[in-house]
Amino acid sequence: MGSRPTIAGDGGREGIGVMRNTIAVMNTKGGVGKSTIVLSIAETLASFHRKNVLVIDSDSQASVSSMLMTPATLHKLQQDSLSIVDYLVATVLSRQSTEWPKFVVRGVSDVDDARSIYLIPSDMQLTLFEREVSKESQHAQLRTVIGQLLGQVRPIFDVVLIDCPPGLSILTESWLREADFHISPTKPDYLSTCGLEVLRRFKALNPEMGFAENLGVLINMKDEYSPIDEEYHRWLKENGDNRCFDQALPRMTSLQSAARFSTQERSYTAKYPGETGRALRALTDEILARLQQGQTGRVRPASAAAPA
Ligand SMILES: Nc1ncnc2c1ncn2[C@@H]1O[C@H](COP(=O)(O)OP(=O)(O)O)[C@@H](O)[C@H]1O
Ligand SMILES: [Mg+2]
Repeated sequence: MGSRPTIAGDGGREGIGVMRNTIAVMNTKGGVGKSTIVLSIAETLASFHRKNVLVIDSDSQASVSSMLMTPATLHKLQQDSLSIVDYLVATVLSRQSTEWPKFVVRGVSDVDDARSIYLIPSDMQLTLFEREVSKESQHAQLRTVIGQLLGQVRPIFDVVLIDCPPGLSILTESWLREADFHISPTKPDYLSTCGLEVLRRFKALNPEMGFAENLGVLINMKDEYSPIDEEYHRWLKENGDNRCFDQALPRMTSLQSAARFSTQERSYTAKYPGETGRALRALTDEILARLQQGQTGRVRPASAAAPA
């Protein structure tokens, strides 16, 4: 654990035996903190729990990519055709076999002891790719490619986090059907919880097509002094289907400013001081415990891991 994953001839690592470890972070509502949560959970898992984490940025806004590197670095990767879009264009539209490790960026994050985060970055062009997939009715091929990619990264990383955009695009649907779990962040307010309901209905539509298991609903931006926020938290917890995490993430300036990548490396505690870091560590403890418990669930067929 903690050593670098074997990617394209890199040094080896010991697996932790967790094979259901791919998590789509998803709520159909925007602005609930999905990207911020992917960032802060990845950094906590890497620096506090010493896990190897792969972040897959599936949002054309490339929010989490820009939280993990400088704009210049991201721009260069996009120019060099090294984003998720290039991987998907090659494998889905051109049906070429392309090695996924080529698209993985090492050493991202401005936290000095979070060196075990890896990123497949995104690009605005992702929107165009999704239009092409729909126009050419390549949905099945997209889902096959996503299934194969997750099958290949599963044994290499401890945790794989997929940052999904709001809405239910065809690409997001593929992640949701192929990933092992989803975490749904929500703000403790009416509209954000409506986003959860849309996801629940979507999941119920075609159960035979497979769907990620709910790892938990995560309350974000909770104001600890607001009785309304407390009421929403209690209400969400009461519904057992939500599997609401006990630990909510408070509304904190440090979490808001975590989004801005710092060119100067900082320690984990400098980036997530006091209560913010404590809440993140308690949350990641819960996530890891649930992942461990979730190993007995449905394991994806091995054929999904076959190279394209
Ligand atoms: N716990 C939090 N405390 C304070 N601000 C937060 C918190 N979580 C997210 N934010 C802020 O809320 C806004 C939306 O977050 P973002 O992660 O972009 O949401 P999404 O990915 O769901 O659209 C951003 O400005 C972000 O910095
Ligand atoms: Mg986002």
